[in-house]
Amino acid sequence: MENYFPKNFMWGGSISANQAEGAWNEDGKGISVADLAKFQPNETDYHKQWLVTRADIKSGVQTHDTTFYPKRHGNDFYHHYEEDIEKFAEMGFKTLRLSIAWSRIFPKGDEEKPNKSGIAFYNNVFKTLKKYNIEPLVTLSHYEMPLNLVLKYGGWYNRKLIKFFLNYSKNVFTEYKQYVKYWITFNEIDSIFRHPFTTAGIIEEDYPPQKLEEVIYQALHHQFIASALSTKMLKEIIPNGQMGCMITRSLDYPETCNPDDVLLAQKLNRNNYLYSDVQARGKYPSYIFNEWQKKNINVDMEKDDLDILQNNTVDFISFSYYMSLVSSINDNNKEKVGGNFITGIKNKYLKTSDWGWQIDPKGFRIALIGLYDRYQMPLWCVENGLGAKDTVNEDGSINDEYRINYLKKHIEQMNLAIRDGVKLIGYTPWGCIDLVSADTSQMSKRYGFIYVDLDDYGNGTYSRKNKKSFYWYKNVISSNGEQL
Ligand code: BG6
Repeated sequence: MENYFPKNFMWGGSISANQAEGAWNEDGKGISVADLAKFQPNETDYHKQWLVTRADIKSGVQTHDTTFYPKRHGNDFYHHYEEDIEKFAEMGFKTLRLSIAWSRIFPKGDEEKPNKSGIAFYNNVFKTLKKYNIEPLVTLSHYEMPLNLVLKYGGWYNRKLIKFFLNYSKNVFTEYKQYVKYWITFNEIDSIFRHPFTTAGIIEEDYPPQKLEEVIYQALHHQFIASALSTKMLKEIIPNGQMGCMITRSLDYPETCNPDDVLLAQKLNRNNYLYSDVQARGKYPSYIFNEWQKKNINVDMEKDDLDILQNNTVDFISFSYYMSLVSSINDNNKEKVGGNFITGIKNKYLKTSDWGWQIDPKGFRIALIGLYDRYQMPLWCVENGLGAKDTVNEDGSINDEYRINYLKKHIEQMNLAIRDGVKLIGYTPWGCIDLVSADTSQMSKRYGFIYVDLDDYGNGTYSRKNKKSFYWYKNVISSNGEQL
């Protein structure tokens, strides 16, 4: 196959603070919503997996336990970052996507001045990246915010959060301006409907069920405004800075050519585009106002809000892509599959991962073309990958052929999408080093090129070991995607 990857293509990997760093209460870090995520691998109900009640908060803040709260220890990137970055450099990474823990910089979220130790930690991380010429891509809030902002202000439902987020943005843009050019405001901003607590600090039980949708739209509106104003601020502090939005691209297929199925799939895809529509086009799509009216949803907006959105659009669109889904107007008694908190009908043409996520490399190409045709804006795939169980052989090797196979097929489709005219600037597969899973908090759901010796219960040495995919990906990068 001919190679269409541009010379300056940003190959790399992706991690988040809350799933990698650990050190949840060290050096002045405040408690965050992620520190309350529970280990419950047997919970199959997506909603319950992420639900955090007031009782959960109460018991969570009283304990220092990390076994039931594995994100508190992560893979201990906080103490291993030098070694980890050295390994990323050995693979030839051009870029690393990581996030800053907001609660490390502002432990309570509403302070005037940042926590100096938090600032120093990321300074060291960015310096180390610079040493190896690895360009950071930094997410400001990846499923993480100080818990105090939830308890004292009610999370993003409260407009005051915009001010706190901007103070946080101002501090990190100013501190790290010589190191970081590429930024993302919120990870998978659309996940606010799937897990409102983690994404926006909304405690569901605080609202009557019929009010919750309105609360979420209001909180989302505040995040949109915060994101737009943070983009504006970025340009003032770092003139060549680039801001991206980030969505979960959940591609939907109609089950049949029945126009009703097609309409349903179109509607679901359109719902998924809402977030990039607002952040890339700078305005809400008109249908949303009709929908709000129909449902009696009232989103409070200030006089200048729509102008703020219009005047501060993002520079690139970043997204995660793991799988596709199928929908039908008649889905009774049909086998369901899911992943990433979204469910659909099983697609008989596709295989699934150990965790039941449907594997669809061609869907990746469809998603890329769809996004580019809609926005004509640079795209960056910041998450993709296979969560799987790995076995360490007696000789210490880890032969993760299944992972290589998954990534290879997705990279092939990326190459073809670029040939088809898509402007794709980077690819940072998820969990380039094993870390704690977002949904089940399992360590055994591994995505990495680098193995971390740690089990689901926090037992292990935290030592790092290269998997077979490490050497494979190194070769992919050095051949700029030619040798798969
Ligand atoms: C994305 C998130 O939705 O999916 C990541 O941005 C997450 O934080 C990834 O880890 C994979 O999901 P999981 O549950 O397998 O870790």
